Amino acid sequence: MSHSVNMGSQTRGVSPGVEQRKSSESRKKIDDKTCRLINADCITGLKDLPADSIHFVATDPPYFLDGMGDDWDKSKLNKRVKPGVIGGLPAGMKFDINQAKRLRKFMFRVASDLYRVLKPGGFAVIFCQARLSYAVGVAFDEAGFEIRDMLAWKYEGQAKAFSQTHFVRKMKISEAEKNKIIKQIYNKKTPQLKPQFEPIILAQKPKDGTFINNWLKHKTGLMSPDQSIMGSGFPGTILEAPKPKKGTEFGHMTVKPVAVMRQLIRLFTIEGQTVLDPFMGSGTTAVAALQDKRKFIGFEIDSDYTNIARARIENEQELL
Ligand SMILES: C[S@@+](CC[C@H](N)C(=O)[O-])C[C@H]1O[C@@H](n2cnc3c(N)ncnc32)[C@H](O)[C@@H]1O
Repeated sequence: MSHSVNMGSQTRGVSPGVEQRKSSESRKKIDDKTCRLINADCITGLKDLPADSIHFVATDPPYFLDGMGDDWDKSKLNKRVKPGVIGGLPAGMKFDINQAKRLRKFMFRVASDLYRVLKPGGFAVIFCQARLSYAVGVAFDEAGFEIRDMLAWKYEGQAKAFSQTHFVRKMKISEAEKNKIIKQIYNKKTPQLKPQFEPIILAQKPKDGTFINNWLKHKTGLMSPDQSIMGSGFPGTILEAPKPKKGTEFGHMTVKPVAVMRQLIRLFTIEGQTVLDPFMGSGTTAVAALQDKRKFIGFEIDSDYTNIARARIENEQELL
C-alpha cells in the first residue's frame, strides 16, 4: 500500500543539501520520556509495562474484518477488499458467525493487561464497530472493568447498501424468470443503514475507595468537564467530527479525528499524565495526547504504521 506521509519541505522528494541536512539535524526528535512509539504486538508488549502505571487508555482496536485475523495481516485485507464485494456482500459485511467470539477472546486478553497497567479508577475508552461493540464490552466487563457509559463519535458516513439485481442477472435461469425476480426486489437493498456514528465504550478500572480517596491517591477516576473543546455547555456523550478520508491522509484505513481523541483525553486526564494506546495505527491518539501535554505510550504491530506515526509527530515540531 502507498503511504502518503507528508515529510515536510526539508525531506520531500529531494536529496538534502548541506543546508537541508543542517536543518533536519536541528529538527527535534521524539523524546522517549514523553512519547514511546513501540513497534510490537501489544499482547506481548503490554507485559513489559509496570502495574498501575497508566492514567488513561484510548484505543481503536482491530475488529477482524473479512480475511483479517488476529495476525492483522493487512496484505490479506487489501487483496480481498479490492473487488469490494465478498460472497454477495460488500467488504466488511460478510457475517462470520465466529467473528464476535474471536474478537471477544482477543479483546479479553488485551483488556486483562490493560486492567493490570491502569491505575485504580483509570478510564479506558474503546472505539468499536457498532455491530461488534457488545463483544468488546463483554470482554472488558469479564476482565474486571466497570462499563460506565457508551459514547458515540458522530460523523456523516456514506451509504453502502446495494442492490441485488446484478446477482440475479448472473443466475442460470431464463430471462423471463430473471425479470420476474428483479421486479420483486426492485428498490430493495442489502440491510445496511447509512453509518453515522461509531460507539465508544467508557470503561473504568474499579476505584480504590471513594472518588475523593481515589483522586488523592492516584489522580484518576474523576473527569474535568471544564476542559471540553466540543460544543457548548456540559460535555455530552455525542462527539461530532468529520471522518478523515480513508487511506489518504496518513495511509491508514481507519484514522480517527484528532479533535475526538483530544476531547476524551482532556476530559479524563490532566497535564503530565500518561495515555496508552495499544493499537495506535497512524498515531492519532499520540498526536492528541502531545497536543495537550500528556505523555504517550503506543503499540503498533505494523512497522509501516509505526513509521507513519513517528513521521506524523516529528512533522508537528511544536508537539516535541
Ligand atoms: C483500527 S486501527 C487504529 C487506527 C488509529 N486509531 C489511527 O487513527 O490511525 C488498529 C491498528 O491496530 C494494529 N494492530 C492490530 N493488532 C495489533 C496487535 N496485536 N498489537 C498492536 N497493534 C495491532 C493494526 O495494525 C492497526 O493499525
